[in-house]
Amino acid sequence: MIAEAITTHRKETAMDKSNAVDQYAHGYDSALTLVQHARRRAEKQAAFLLPHLQSGMSLLDCGCGSGSITIGLAKAVAPGKTVGIDVSGVEIERARANASNTEMSNILFEVGNVYALDFPDNSFDAVFSHNVLEHLNDPARAIAEMQRVLKPGGVIGIRDADMGGGRATDRVGLPRGALA
Ligand SMILES: C[S@@+](CC[C@H](N)C(=O)[O-])C[C@H]1O[C@@H](n2cnc3c(N)ncnc32)[C@H](O)[C@@H]1O
Repeated sequence: MIAEAITTHRKETAMDKSNAVDQYAHGYDSALTLVQHARRRAEKQAAFLLPHLQSGMSLLDCGCGSGSITIGLAKAVAPGKTVGIDVSGVEIERARANASNTEMSNILFEVGNVYALDFPDNSFDAVFSHNVLEHLNDPARAIAEMQRVLKPGGVIGIRDADMGGGRATDRVGLPRGALA
């Protein structure tokens, strides 16, 4: 159903190509990206969100990187569909390779920009993002875009670094329209 909605949306809506992409400071071939990100798991980095997920939900992971967390989220909502998007084609190829090592058929990865998500309004039951906002010049705009694609009553889970406090910060359930 989501795949149909995406196809329809793409036919009807031209993606806003004017949206700038921020520089990803860590780089895609650094040890941090290649080694540490690969060790990440939904059970740890998305532990705060898992209790809010159910079988059959649709889920979007914004800035999914190589998909190490996304795959665990997809297991939590299976047979519901999970989509991981990332602005990097390199990371999306890695995520697809990682997913192909699983037996899961409810997950897909696509290149996309969190500032201009290529999905209709009200597409997903859950939206997740991990360590992405800290890399964006306009995180509020990204959150507003996540809210746009979230269904009424859906849940958003965001975990990011609090650079000032030096610790990770989890947030679940920003109500739709809270930033409007
Ligand atoms: C620190 S990595 C986190 C990856 C993954 N969420 C994880 O925790 O392993 C940040 C990711 O955000 C992606 N990113 C940066 N700007 C983005 C944008 N505008 N839209 C989508 N993804 C973006 C980067 O390409 C990178 O893969």
